[in-house]
Amino acid sequence: MIKKIRVDELEVGMFIEDLNVPWMDHPFLSNRRRIKCTKDIDILVEHRIQEVLINTELGRDTGKGQPIEQAESEAKDRLNRDVLSPPPAPPEEPAHDALEHAPLTDSTPFEEEVRKARTVYGQAKNLVKDLLTDARMGKSVDGERAARVVDDMVDSIFRNHDALASLSRLKNFDDYTFNHSVNVSVLALTLGRHLGIVKGELKRLGVGAILHDVGKMRVPEAVLNKPGRLTEEEFEVMKTHSLHGAKILLETKDVPDECAAVALNHHERFDGRGYPRGLQGLSIGKFGLISAVADVYDAVTSDRVYHKGMPTHQALQKMYEWAKTDFYPIYVQKFIQCIGIYPIGSVVRLDTGEVGVVCRQNHDQLLRPCVRVVFDADGARLAASVEVDLRELDEHGEKPFARTVVSTLEAAAAGVDPEAVLVRETPAQAA
Ligand SMILES: [Fe+2]
Repeated sequence: MIKKIRVDELEVGMFIEDLNVPWMDHPFLSNRRRIKCTKDIDILVEHRIQEVLINTELGRDTGKGQPIEQAESEAKDRLNRDVLSPPPAPPEEPAHDALEHAPLTDSTPFEEEVRKARTVYGQAKNLVKDLLTDARMGKSVDGERAARVVDDMVDSIFRNHDALASLSRLKNFDDYTFNHSVNVSVLALTLGRHLGIVKGELKRLGVGAILHDVGKMRVPEAVLNKPGRLTEEEFEVMKTHSLHGAKILLETKDVPDECAAVALNHHERFDGRGYPRGLQGLSIGKFGLISAVADVYDAVTSDRVYHKGMPTHQALQKMYEWAKTDFYPIYVQKFIQCIGIYPIGSVVRLDTGEVGVVCRQNHDQLLRPCVRVVFDADGARLAASVEVDLRELDEHGEKPFARTVVSTLEAAAAGVDPEAVLVRETPAQAA
């Protein structure tokens, strides 16, 4: 029998059939789970889940709650399909379940960390420029310097997990190669922290990720910088960059061998269609699987000479579709949970007509981040941005929430400089 009960009525041994909320609003791999200990219940409370459906055939029964028809439960399930379709069934060997990890706590507020993060991002970009140039000229790569810079990146992400990641969105589009290398590293580290990977291992992931495309320095420039589509032969040459990259990293002093796994495996795909080895599933390894997500996300959201970058929420939706074939589905789900549906720095139009910049995630409600409003409902630019939380309820009771995102806008076209709004301005107190 399926019963709907309040979270405070849950007991150890019960089987949750449905968490009764969209999957984006909870940290678990799946809606269905057994309550193994009281900590499992505490996590539900922390995520403000109020009522759940339990299955009394699969777990302990209770005198409380009300039985509900199977049909209603199925209808509820359908309702749970929010902006994105639900996650595919988790593979047989889930590597990371949020239940095992404490929720992330940041020691430094975003506004404070983002200033330091800018310096770290700048250092990382200079590092990549120098190291790729060295590799191009056949010189050895300075592994010790790479480790130092990545140490600073990891420290920044541990102080605040949003700050450095927000800068990966505020990229300027002139030096794609350098920005892309830094962004892949930032995004891989951000996802890695969210997955609960320990610092030492994260640093190896970061070094590998920042140099994941170093093998491209062995690809002839005519192929590497060809503006149009590559021919089949040229693509075969391009594909050698994974092996070249792994070789360069293995030969580099002060770079642990594990880092080479990122260069080697970042183009492997979950279903085995990738290269160079056509590895399948979890045999691609954690570093390869994480960097594939970060690499594709940054590539499809970036403007290039020959194509315009996708808006982030659209890119995430696409990646969600591709998760069935290309990526480890759990990592895509976790990635969306950690960077948000509307990542920091996104320019959004609200249902009030106001336009603003997403400045903070609400990890309990990914569709309702905090926004710094820059243009008021009449389109007039505010003297100073005003911060609003989209979780605020509508005080007139005409609609559930005071403000809701209706669309994302291209920053330049909207006349907004997200970096200026996030980094340089101090917002006025919310009205
Ligand atoms: Fe690559």
